[in-house]
Amino acid sequence: MDKPLRKEPFYITTPIYYVNAEPHIGHTYTTVLADTLARFWRLYGKDVYFLTGTDEHGDKVMQAAKAEGVEPKAYADRISGMFRSTFEEVGFTYDRFIRTTDADHEKVVTDILQRVYDKGDIYFGEYGGYYCTGCERFYTEKEMVDGKCPDHQTELKYISEKNYFFKMSKYQDWLIKYIKDNPSFIEPERHKNKVLSFLKDPLSDLCISRPKSRLPWGISLPFDDNYVTYVWFDALINYLTGVGYPDGPDFVKYWKTAHHLTAKDILIPHAIYWPTMLKAMGLEPYKTLKVHGYWQVEKAKMSKSLGNVVRPLDMKEKYGFEQFRYFLLREMSFGLDSSFNEELLVERINSDLANDLGNLVSRVLGMTERYQNGVVKKLDGHEGKLPDVASSIADELPGLMEGFRFRKAMLKIWELVTAANAFVEEHAPWALNKEGKTEVLAGVLYDLLESLRMLSVFLTPFMPRTCDKLRQKLGIKLNEDEVFADLIKWGQLPDGTKVTKGEALFPRVEC
Ligand code: MSP
Repeated sequence: MDKPLRKEPFYITTPIYYVNAEPHIGHTYTTVLADTLARFWRLYGKDVYFLTGTDEHGDKVMQAAKAEGVEPKAYADRISGMFRSTFEEVGFTYDRFIRTTDADHEKVVTDILQRVYDKGDIYFGEYGGYYCTGCERFYTEKEMVDGKCPDHQTELKYISEKNYFFKMSKYQDWLIKYIKDNPSFIEPERHKNKVLSFLKDPLSDLCISRPKSRLPWGISLPFDDNYVTYVWFDALINYLTGVGYPDGPDFVKYWKTAHHLTAKDILIPHAIYWPTMLKAMGLEPYKTLKVHGYWQVEKAKMSKSLGNVVRPLDMKEKYGFEQFRYFLLREMSFGLDSSFNEELLVERINSDLANDLGNLVSRVLGMTERYQNGVVKKLDGHEGKLPDVASSIADELPGLMEGFRFRKAMLKIWELVTAANAFVEEHAPWALNKEGKTEVLAGVLYDLLESLRMLSVFLTPFMPRTCDKLRQKLGIKLNEDEVFADLIKWGQLPDGTKVTKGEALFPRVEC
C-alpha cells in the first residue's frame, strides 16, 4: 500500500568536518541534533535525507598531514575513516557520508567553477589580506582583534598573491533583501542580526583559489591548472553533490527543503558565501540555516593542548552513548553556548535517567509482574489524567522540533515521566493489591504501562536504542509502517501482552 504521508521531503545537513582533528563533543553535538531531527521527521512520516561527512582539502589538512609525515590523501583517509566508524558505532542514521575527495564531488565542483567562470562571475586579480589557517579564511582589519583571529586568538599572517575571485559583492544587495524578506532563512535571530550587521559594510569579493606552488592539495581549477580551489568554495558545494546535483532525482526533490545545521563559528561562510554562490549558479537558496552555540569544557575553550577534548567514544564507554546524547540535547539551549562538565553529566544520568525514567519503568513493570504475572489487562473506564498529559506532548512535539527546540522538547516529554511517577504515588498500586481491588489496580497499571508505551514513541528520536529496549520490555515492536499520528493514539497496548522488568534501563553512576 502507498504511504501518502511519506511524500513530504525533508533535507538536513551537518557541516562536513575537517579531518585535522578527531571527532569530539562539538562534531557529535551537531550530528546528534541532525540525527534526532532525521529520526523524528521519519517517524512523523516525512521522506528524510540526512547528509554528513568530511572536508578534506585546504591548508589545515595539508599541514596536519605534513606533521605526520604522510600524503594528504592517506591522512584524510585515516581521519575520515575515524569519523565514519565513530558515527556508525554510535548509530547515526545518515543517508550519505560524503567526502570532498569523492570523485562525484570533485566533478560537481569543477563543473560549477567552469559555469560561474563562463558567466563572468570569476576574475583574476591580486589580493593581500590577513589569513587564518584555523578558519581557512581571510580577515579584514576590522574583524581582527589586536591583530589576531577573533576565534583562534592566533597571530594572522599577511598574504599577498595573484588569485581568482568570485564576484560576491555583486550579490550583496540581493542577499540583504533576501534575508529581510525571509525571516526564517537564518535563525536564531541573534545570528541573523550578526550577518545583517556584517553586510552593512561593503562586501569584498571572495578569493576562491590558491596557487599550487603554495598549496598543491585541492581540486584543480578547470580554467587554470596552476591553481586549486579554495577549500570553502569546494566544501559548501557538498550540500549539492550529496543530494545528487545536478540531475539526480533526489536533488529536485530535496533541495528546496534544505536545512543546514552549523555552529556559530562558520556563520559567515554559510550565511554569505553560500547563498551568493548559489545565486551565481542560478539556484534557489537553501531553506534555512540553523545556528547553534559553542560547547566549552569546564568553561574553557576545548583544545588538544589543554588536554580537555571530550570524545564521543570515551563517553560511550564510560556512561553509554544514549546517556551522553540525552545530556547534549537536554542541556544546551539552541543558539546559546554551554559548558560541558562531567559532574553535571553524572548528575543528569542519575537524576533524570536512572531515577525519574529508569525507576518508573522498573517499578511499573515490576508491579505488573508481581500483581498480574506480567500480563497487561486492558479494561475500559479507568483513564486518569495521564492520557491528557500524553496528548499535550503529542500536540506540541512537532512544533518544537520544527523550531529546533530540543531542550524544550525534552522538558515537555519529561512532563509525562513526572506525571506517571506522581500517579504511582497517588494510586499506590501496592495498597490496591493488598485491598484486593484487582480491577482498579489493573486500570491504574494499564495507564502506567500505556504511558511507558507513549514515552517509547516520544523518546525514539532522542534515545533510539533505549526505546528499543523499552519496547522489548513492553513486549511490542515499532512497526515501520506506523507513523507518529498512529502511534500517539491512547490505548494501543494490547490486552494480554506479556511484559518483563529485566535489567534497569540506566545503571546509576557511582561517583
Ligand atoms: N569544514 C568546515 C565546515 C564546512 S561545511 C561546508 C569546518 N569544519 S570543523 O571540523 O571545524 O567543524 C565545525 C563544526 O563542528 C561547527 O560548526 C559545529 O557544527 C561543530 N563544532 C566543532 N566544535 C564545536 C564546539 N566546541 N561546540 C559546538 N559545535 C562545534 O568548519
